[in-house]
Amino acid sequence: MIFVMKTREQLLEFLSAAEGTWVSGDDLARRVALTRSAVWKHVRRLREEGCAIESSPRKGYLLKEAPDRMTPQIIMNALRTKIFGKQEIVVFSRTESTNTSSKSMALRGAPEGTLVLADTQTSGRGRKGREWYSPIRDGLYASIILRPDLLLSQAGRIPIFASLAVAETFVSLGVSGVSIRWPNDILVRGKKIAGILTEVGAEMDAVDYIIIGTGINVNTPRFPKNLQRSATSLFLETGKRVFRCMILNEYLTLFEKYCRLYKKGITGRLLTRWKDLAGIMGRDVVVETGGRTSGGIVRDLDEDGALIVQTPNAGRVRVFSGDVRFPE
Ligand code: BTN
Repeated sequence: MIFVMKTREQLLEFLSAAEGTWVSGDDLARRVALTRSAVWKHVRRLREEGCAIESSPRKGYLLKEAPDRMTPQIIMNALRTKIFGKQEIVVFSRTESTNTSSKSMALRGAPEGTLVLADTQTSGRGRKGREWYSPIRDGLYASIILRPDLLLSQAGRIPIFASLAVAETFVSLGVSGVSIRWPNDILVRGKKIAGILTEVGAEMDAVDYIIIGTGINVNTPRFPKNLQRSATSLFLETGKRVFRCMILNEYLTLFEKYCRLYKKGITGRLLTRWKDLAGIMGRDVVVETGGRTSGGIVRDLDEDGALIVQTPNAGRVRVFSGDVRFPE
């Protein structure tokens, strides 16, 4: 999968570098070290994702247009998942918040895997009532409805896999300096590139639905002043523009795989990888939760997504929500 994504990106890069002139199939095949028929298959996928690429047996390929368009059809064709995004996909050109829209759909009975996307959000929401900057078509704003068989107290497990999937998506693109900040912020060289807002509906103490709302700064060229020091985008990190749809595909493929492993009880390697990327085990941290600040040493991340912190006064405590930072 990762290989396929990189190849398509490379092909697009070569085709756009030709600036409206034809590139022969041989030339493209040589550059990506594949056969001409493999190149043809990739071109077909690029077309399904919305690229206008002309082909001629004599001249090769010509890139006419490569719009970063998201429609249910384009996404449905592009996704290599089995459940996520394979039930129902809703794409808004503008909505208040994809989480809010997903919540009404979940309450009306939308099935597991329902995917809600938007080109922009007028009230994109972050954790703790913060705002999520949602410039039009620059970022990926995606919410997915899950209906896992979990107790409410176990719901924190799912976003761990979502944040790991986002982080691994960046790693697969060759981005360096990727890390995770508990509970589920994704950073590149210390700046936030993606975040996850989890909202849970429960009956008694059984989960009815979980909405995983993911915001990824994909092609954002600049941020407002108040975010410049703390936020970054894939474009700012790599100098390259990427299709939001490709990022979505990679992210959802990994996230679905991790959820499948979780269902089978195979989480050891995922949790270890999460902890590696978080890099906070054994470190001194300051935890701010519910208006209270306390300090301690991080000992572990448990299966429920809680951070186990050794505090001087209260011993080992499980922290379920809040913000964590390193002492100054
Ligand atoms: C955070 O880091 O505080 C979480 C940010 C989550 C943002 C995403 S964008 C898609 C979905 N819709 C929202 O309103 N929020 C989430």
